[in-house]
Amino acid sequence: MKTLLLTSEDKNIDLSADVLRSGGIVAFPTETVYGLGGSAFSETAIQNIFKAKGRPSDNPLIVHVSSKAQIESLVDKITPSAEAIIKNLMPGPVTIVLKKKPIVPDNVTGGLDTVAIRMPDSKIALKLIESAGVPICAPSANTSTKPSPTSAKHVMDDLNGKIDIVLDGGECSVGVESTVIDCTSKIPVILRQGGLEKEKIEQIIGRIDDYKTPTSKEKPRSPGMKYKHYSPRAEVYCVPNDNDFATKVTDFFTKNAQNGKKCVIIGLQDTLKSIKNIPAYNAGCDIKDYAKNLFKLLRLADDDGYDFILAELPEEKSLGRAVKNRLTKASGGKTL
Ligand code: TXA
Ligand code: MG
Repeated sequence: MKTLLLTSEDKNIDLSADVLRSGGIVAFPTETVYGLGGSAFSETAIQNIFKAKGRPSDNPLIVHVSSKAQIESLVDKITPSAEAIIKNLMPGPVTIVLKKKPIVPDNVTGGLDTVAIRMPDSKIALKLIESAGVPICAPSANTSTKPSPTSAKHVMDDLNGKIDIVLDGGECSVGVESTVIDCTSKIPVILRQGGLEKEKIEQIIGRIDDYKTPTSKEKPRSPGMKYKHYSPRAEVYCVPNDNDFATKVTDFFTKNAQNGKKCVIIGLQDTLKSIKNIPAYNAGCDIKDYAKNLFKLLRLADDDGYDFILAELPEEKSLGRAVKNRLTKASGGKTL
């Protein structure tokens, strides 16, 4: 299949909407990461999304909408916490999980009786969904297990020849995926940390719990969490930002250089000041920059042929939660 790479001007959004309506699959920008979209009501499109990504079929998809009316058409009941999130935080980098109506096909939800819904805060994405006139399923537009794509180039690197269209809307502003919240229980639960900070959600709905990884016998509530994720080809190690940061990365670098292995650091500007004579990618001034640049830099390390990535592990607060979660998965939990 030939994949068209198109600018996101109106006529190309309309063309992409036509392709979506007729069962094709289109990658499009959102504020978090690029999504690989298909009509929620096209069995062929859903099958082709899973096939193009190489994604296990029991990992459910987020349904993207452009209006509250569309949410009402898909869910059984909007709970009070969901109502407050829709009113105050949508469109935005947040996804809510609610009990689904029978109209939502099983291949979208991986057989679950719930559906995940998100209204992206991106003019291009909203226009595309509105113009398509159907809810759009969209996982991140990367090959399964790879870091999520934050530019059209990343999507082309992974999916060229496997999908109909890539709409280029430049770089994503948030850079990590949406925060997924299970709103079916009285006290909502964060299933995946993401681009909307827990602190901001608490301000709106009060108490919200963090999901605890289940014991091996229990079924995870968010199926995606059991799979390998966000892994570049290079081996990733997390390095906590403490007084030993410079010593640890220097020792690791020196030892591996002797074996002919290439190593790069990813860290915030201030942290990198203590590092001398080791290749490093500057992730920016603050945690917002770090989130925006994380996936791009993981991919860049592969393009630049590095064997190891030593990534600064941020504090577990605000966007640091999402960055830490992605780095922990990318490294398989390996820490220096
Ligand atoms: O920011 C985002 O959320 C991006 C953009 C494209 O919107 N999308 C995204 O989709 O990250 P994906 O498929 O890569 O991740 C969806 C996550 C998975 O962890 C999946 O298991 C979870 O949402 N999920 C989907 N439906 C669910 C459901 N009914 N219950 C619990 N978790 C669900
Ligand atoms: Mg993904």
